[in-house]
Amino acid sequence: MEALLPLVRCPVTCEPLSLVEGDESEGILATEEDGHEYPVLGGVPVLVPDAAAFLARHRDAVVAALAEEGRVSKATIALLHEVVDGVRGDDYQAFAEDWTAREVDTDAPGFEVPEGETGAPIRALVEQGDPWKRIAAAVPEGARDVVEIGPGAGPLTAHLAKGRKLLLVDRSLRALFTAARGKGAVQLLVGEAEALPLAPESADAVVAANVIDLLGDPMSFLARAATVLRPGGKLVLTSPDPWPWEEDPEAAEALFAHVGLTLETFEDDLLWLREHGPREIQLYRMQLVVARR
Ligand SMILES: C[S@@+](CC[C@H](N)C(=O)[O-])C[C@H]1O[C@@H](n2cnc3c(N)ncnc32)[C@H](O)[C@@H]1O
Repeated sequence: MEALLPLVRCPVTCEPLSLVEGDESEGILATEEDGHEYPVLGGVPVLVPDAAAFLARHRDAVVAALAEEGRVSKATIALLHEVVDGVRGDDYQAFAEDWTAREVDTDAPGFEVPEGETGAPIRALVEQGDPWKRIAAAVPEGARDVVEIGPGAGPLTAHLAKGRKLLLVDRSLRALFTAARGKGAVQLLVGEAEALPLAPESADAVVAANVIDLLGDPMSFLARAATVLRPGGKLVLTSPDPWPWEEDPEAAEALFAHVGLTLETFEDDLLWLREHGPREIQLYRMQLVVARR
């Protein structure tokens, strides 16, 4: 957390934050000027615009995710109660999780390609259907400080983590823990893509695989990501459902230019195959878009 503090900002005002209560495991971060407060639970800062409402809504899911990691203490629960006390959480909500058993655990049963001629075209697809190395290669070798937004179960995270300082940002605490498992010293924070709580010019690359199509306000995300990049830094995006530029590179160019980025790569039809079990696969055509600050 100590190393993370200079990198983080208030998601609402973009002001710096300091620890005003507790410690780096269970504490409160706050802005100096107008008193926005954000808790740190189990060592993970929760830097979403209305942290109290977010935690009231996801309280059970947060406690479950922390418990799975052995990060719940009496102090965690006391702090959580302090933050959500008197705040109405509509219905308690789980985090929306979009991952297959095999993405979490590579030993889980994979798709069994039929023998012989029936299986031949499927075998070819299975061999081509891993886009992660190609996507990770869009991040320059020299990029040291990398932010991955929306890692999910982390199929890209292992590729990005090699030899870099990697920070994962997801609105799901459970996704953060799942993606970080076995990847070494990865930094974590709960945050929203559209209100990225990160310092200006703090990253060499910002990567978001299959997230932009989920956002209601993708332009806010692009604008915030652009400020987080250092000059020359790269924004690397993929999507199976390209939005907001659809299939039009000129539209993408114009949208990136609007936030001060230059479109460099617009590549379509990367195959992405998801194995759901021995008898089920799902095949997407993915778009890879890279822009430079
Ligand atoms: C479809 S999954 C993609 C996961 C992974 N990148 C992949 O390609 O397999 C989307 C991920 O983004 C997260 N997410 C969705 N909307 C978000 C938002 N507005 N801000 C931050 N994370 C978000 C979800 O919790 C989930 O982990």
